[in-house]
Amino acid sequence: MNIKMDPMGRAIADYWKTKTMVSTNRQADRLRVFSPMFEEDEIPLTTLFRTYENMPKIEQKALDMATGKTLDVGAGAGCHSLVLQEKGIDVTAIDISPLSVATMKKRGVKKAFEQDFFALGSQQHVFALEGQYDTILMLMNGIGIVGTLDRLPEFFRLLDKILAPGGQVLCDSSDISYVFETEDGLIELPDDMAYYGEQSFQMQYKDTIGEPFPWLYIDADTLRERAARSGYAVEVVAEGEHYDYLARITKKTENIMKSFKSTAWILPQPVLIIGTYDKRGKPNAMNAAWGGQWDMHEIMISLGSHATTDNLAENPEFTVAFATADTMIASDYVGIVSGRNTPDKMEKAGWTVEKAPHVNAPVFKEFPMTLECRVKQKIDESETGYYLVAEIVNILCDEKYLAEDGKPDVEKMKLITFDPVHHTYIQLGKAVGNAFADGKQLMNEPSGEAGRK
Ligand SMILES: Cc1cc2nc3c(=O)[nH]c(=O)nc-3n(C[C@H](O)[C@H](O)[C@H](O)COP(=O)(O)O)c2cc1C
Repeated sequence: MNIKMDPMGRAIADYWKTKTMVSTNRQADRLRVFSPMFEEDEIPLTTLFRTYENMPKIEQKALDMATGKTLDVGAGAGCHSLVLQEKGIDVTAIDISPLSVATMKKRGVKKAFEQDFFALGSQQHVFALEGQYDTILMLMNGIGIVGTLDRLPEFFRLLDKILAPGGQVLCDSSDISYVFETEDGLIELPDDMAYYGEQSFQMQYKDTIGEPFPWLYIDADTLRERAARSGYAVEVVAEGEHYDYLARITKKTENIMKSFKSTAWILPQPVLIIGTYDKRGKPNAMNAAWGGQWDMHEIMISLGSHATTDNLAENPEFTVAFATADTMIASDYVGIVSGRNTPDKMEKAGWTVEKAPHVNAPVFKEFPMTLECRVKQKIDESETGYYLVAEIVNILCDEKYLAEDGKPDVEKMKLITFDPVHHTYIQLGKAVGNAFADGKQLMNEPSGEAGRK
């Protein structure tokens, strides 16, 4: 801001120089405030230099609540910053008025900068942002600098950047609807008015006249509703004597966990292709997602009543292949068509069949890896099926899919998993860490960090 356009700064500087009211009688020596909405007013310069004892209750409350690294926005003559500094709080004061900043420094504010709040976090900030702030203080109708309701989203986006996790904004404002109160006590707002708190002001001190600027007075309900849209919560922590209030704005952190009724949503689920021979040695395959490891050498599959179950009753040996992106269509096909009524099911699937070396069951050569299994136990057997527990007799892996260490390379296989929520198949991606190893990083960290990693 050009100092020739800085009436507030000039008044503050003059007052500090003389440490006394320059002249209360002469119009030109007062900090005059003009607005289309209100009668001409003035800001008594003594209030800009007030001590804690002379501050209104809501400001005292805000200063009592300030903790941690604090940013005093629109700090003026620095009266709030000085109180906090005195209390040992690490406070940074910013103001767009160069003469105010110069005066603050003379008064002993250690960190005072000429800085537009809205330029913080962009390339235009004049001081290095030292991380985020635990408290952002905006007093003397401080949230007014937002100017209009439409600018609130920008304000909250800036908070996303500069407010530390768990941090707070302490700001005051007023509900000025009383201005529109009729003699009958009704509030009558002009029809053509956007929001009654959106005002415009201009200041003059001696011959220094500032630019008109927009100023927002916002009632607590509107602030609460607008803040919620941007993910912030507003709590009114104190009320003043004249429709003014102190608000504490914090980021909403609670996770909204929606409930769903019980269903088979273990994630991720495998896509297992079970291969069996019928009593005549004709191969069959079915798709199964409800299966997994049972013990070190055993697997479990929840089996319904299928051609596969018929085959296992005759011959308790089978294979389990892991479906891939390349075999996905036929893998789904064998899960929706039964060998009981589709004699050419396996011809349609089109897989190359070979007898497994260790069990009497088919191996489908298009799959990179196959378990050779033998039924060990049928749990809860009924006409609708049973839980099958089977021993893993041997594991076959196509040499193409071996890693350099000679073991199966799961990343190479393009394996798919079944998404039971949307009934899709999802291809596995890259390895993201090392099991039984990466977790060790947290062993010596303070608690609370683990959940974020
Ligand atoms: C994605 C998917 C997962 C399936 N999971 C299972 C399962 O875990 N258990 C089961 O008995 N059937 C499951 N099925 C159904 C069988 O694969 C299906 O009934 C098949 O037609 C049986 O073939 P079959 O009668 O030739 O043996 C699944 C099907 C699909 C598509």
